[in-house]
Amino acid sequence: MARLSNYLLTLLGTFVFTQGTQAYDYLSHARSSSDALMHWYNQGTGVFNGTGWWNSAECITALADMQGIDPTSNFQDTLRNTLEINKNVMTTKSDFYDDEGWWALAWIKAYDLTHDQDYLNTAEQLFDDMAKGWSIDCKGGIWWDKDHTYLNSIANELFLSVAAHLASRTRNIKYLDWAIKEWQWFEQSGLISKNNTVNDGLDGSCRNNGYTVWSYNQGVIVGGLVELSKASFDDSYIVIARDIAWAAIETLTDSNGVLHDSCERGCGGDVSQFKGIFNRNVAQLYTATSDPGLKKFLETNAQSIWKNDRDSQNRLGLKWSGPYDKADASTHSSALMALIAAASVQGS
Ligand SMILES: *[C@@H]1O[C@H](CO)[C@@H](O)[C@H](O)[C@H]1NC(C)=O
Ligand SMILES: *[C@@H]1O[C@H](CO)[C@@H](O)[C@H](O)[C@H]1NC(C)=O
Repeated sequence: MARLSNYLLTLLGTFVFTQGTQAYDYLSHARSSSDALMHWYNQGTGVFNGTGWWNSAECITALADMQGIDPTSNFQDTLRNTLEINKNVMTTKSDFYDDEGWWALAWIKAYDLTHDQDYLNTAEQLFDDMAKGWSIDCKGGIWWDKDHTYLNSIANELFLSVAAHLASRTRNIKYLDWAIKEWQWFEQSGLISKNNTVNDGLDGSCRNNGYTVWSYNQGVIVGGLVELSKASFDDSYIVIARDIAWAAIETLTDSNGVLHDSCERGCGGDVSQFKGIFNRNVAQLYTATSDPGLKKFLETNAQSIWKNDRDSQNRLGLKWSGPYDKADASTHSSALMALIAAASVQGS
């Protein structure tokens, strides 16, 4: 009897709480959605069905982030399985240097969780391969692709970020040197516009090509600079990161503060991954700045996803303002990153 009434009180309490205050329990939402991501996980290949190679790196990163904020999660075997199956093909399977960067960051995150050297070694191998893409055509920067057709922002931002992350996790000074060298090149390359937004890449004359300001190109550089400031003990990088993050929020959010990329329908399997990467990196900037506006941005987006962009099985679609359309491992893991980002700053 006592048990039953306690149960009823708990039920009633939950009801009043959620109805009365519109409470968002970011952590439990992130937990439900990270479990839902496993719907697409292919145990035999170690990657996620229905999406691309680099997208799987983002799925793995999301699971590792989740494990990091919620020790009751159980994704360590998944991380290990993906590494074991793919570790010998990590560099050969990537035709693009940015793919190597995504995977390197995923394995660095797994290393942070486990301190297992295998993860760090794999990240270092990936970095070394990326460094082979350093170009002389535009006085530096790494190519996007191993065929050397395009010098773009994302590959270089990732190169900077991976270098900065490795600098503080290894004793090898080369990583800090590379991170600084990459930043010095990036800063003068013209990729960052006068508005502090980052365009997609350079044209054949090494000038900003004016191509789309994608959300992920605003995000990876922000996280990279935060990490570089830690590795170099130089706060000036944070100032630049903040300018870029705010320029992106002003440029890419709607009147409700919800993030959009310029294409939200039929834009292929890459664009669907972008936005969560921005939020993930904004959460890193928040931990370095405690800027309340950044926290509000993260919360607004997590709330909108949960309310407007979800099906009954907690699968998450492409358009964070809704309505929910359909989900795959890419749209889902991207939105999941935004839920995790909000959960990670809650209470801080
Ligand atoms: C993934 O795809 C493979 C091959 O089509 C299939 O055998 C497997 O059941 C799928 N797994 C999941 C989790 O969807
Ligand atoms: C800066 O923003 C304005 C207004 O959105 C835009 O018209 C202009 O092209 C941007 N400038 C650069 C260099 O991107």
